[in-house]
Amino acid sequence: MADWKAGLEDVIAARSGICAVDGAAGRLFYRGYEIGELAGHASYEEVTWLLWHGELPTAEEGRAFAAALEATRGLPAPVLELLERLPRDCHPLDALRTAVSLAASVDPDVRSNDREANLRKACRVMTLIPATVAAWQRIRTGREPVPARRAGSHAAWFLAMLNGRDPSPEVARVMDLVLTLHADHEFNASTFALRVAVATLADLHAAVVAAIATLKGPKHGGANEDVLAMLRDIGDPARAAGYVGERLGARAGMSRAERGDPRARMPGFGHRVYKVDDARARVLRGMAKSMAEATGRGRLFEVAERVYDAMKAGTDLPVNVDFFSAVVYDALDIPPDFCTSIFAVGRVAGWCAHALEQYADNRLIRPRADYTGPAPRRMLTSMASSPTS
Ligand SMILES: CC(C)(COP(=O)(O)OP(=O)(O)OC[C@H]1O[C@@H](n2cnc3c(N)ncnc32)[C@H](O)[C@@H]1OP(=O)(O)O)[C@@H](O)C(=O)NCCC(=O)NCCS
Repeated sequence: MADWKAGLEDVIAARSGICAVDGAAGRLFYRGYEIGELAGHASYEEVTWLLWHGELPTAEEGRAFAAALEATRGLPAPVLELLERLPRDCHPLDALRTAVSLAASVDPDVRSNDREANLRKACRVMTLIPATVAAWQRIRTGREPVPARRAGSHAAWFLAMLNGRDPSPEVARVMDLVLTLHADHEFNASTFALRVAVATLADLHAAVVAAIATLKGPKHGGANEDVLAMLRDIGDPARAAGYVGERLGARAGMSRAERGDPRARMPGFGHRVYKVDDARARVLRGMAKSMAEATGRGRLFEVAERVYDAMKAGTDLPVNVDFFSAVVYDALDIPPDFCTSIFAVGRVAGWCAHALEQYADNRLIRPRADYTGPAPRRMLTSMASSPTS
């Protein structure tokens, strides 16, 4: 068998025109636009249109797209009933995965993979995910889900569903930015899982379920949950450097497998592609500072800053998107086990873009394994159990 790369590192798995990552320079582009230029200048809805269609929308297209999304707001009744029956300690991402799976059964286009049907389904999944995330957070904390309403930006609507009141324009702007920064990231693990599912010609909902399942892991989206839990655990900026030293120092006597365990790593640091801090992390760091100060959570930001300094002093690992986003989530009053759900609310735009691209020019994704098991051998007849026993 030819060369293989553990974890498919640097392997080109398909051609894509959606998102480019420059790992050496820490730069990220959606359809050619640099993320720092898009974030704050185009709304999350406009960025979603860009990812799906290749160009920013005209004013007319933007209005029509916002209206199309607004028209799909509201949870299907069976999904709401499902959420009400789930055990209250069900992890938010498990609740979301299960809800998207059920939503397929009530989607009128579930049996069609035509582009128009997929665009309609993509709009519905775009609002299903935030509506489910918000409803589940309220239900599991003993509150009534907020009835759907039509008006308002995607970010403001999501926050209103979550908190039961309209957000201030500033908080809505922060959420819009967070969603935009998370909207896509080339062939990250959840997007790749989605493309593998799409390539079998499974339906969009099935592929999004695969993506959500993959996002959950602590080496991918689940890391933001671990970051917030860790920062709260450290608690005091003066303890941060010691904590980092202990956690990294414990790795010295470990085997490679043990060093791979998330408990032996610093969540929010390291990346398969980036060799330096990426642009999203830089924007999120600034947002984390101003949000933490505005909401009286400056101490957690200080802990994060001291952890960041200690990591820079002790390693050459870049900070990743999950580190400072966790501080922003804390300022938005989002608990640790809910952080990855916010990631999903943003990333669904990219998942849908990649699904549309894969359906449009599809070939089954089916790699090979470099077989390392026993050489071909014969079974001894005395080893076989009797078929009648
Ligand atoms: C993101 C991540 C999974 C990338 O993994 P990868 O490309 O397969 O890199 P590797 O796991 O091979 O790591 C390369 C080396 O850096 C070390 N390393 C990578 N990330 C590390 C971290 N967060 N803390 C400590 N060491 C880390 C590895 O232990 C390894 O060194 P070793 O060979 O001495 O054990 C990895 O950096 C990680 O686990 N980060 C923490 C979780 C996280 O923040 N995930 C979100 C990513 S956006």
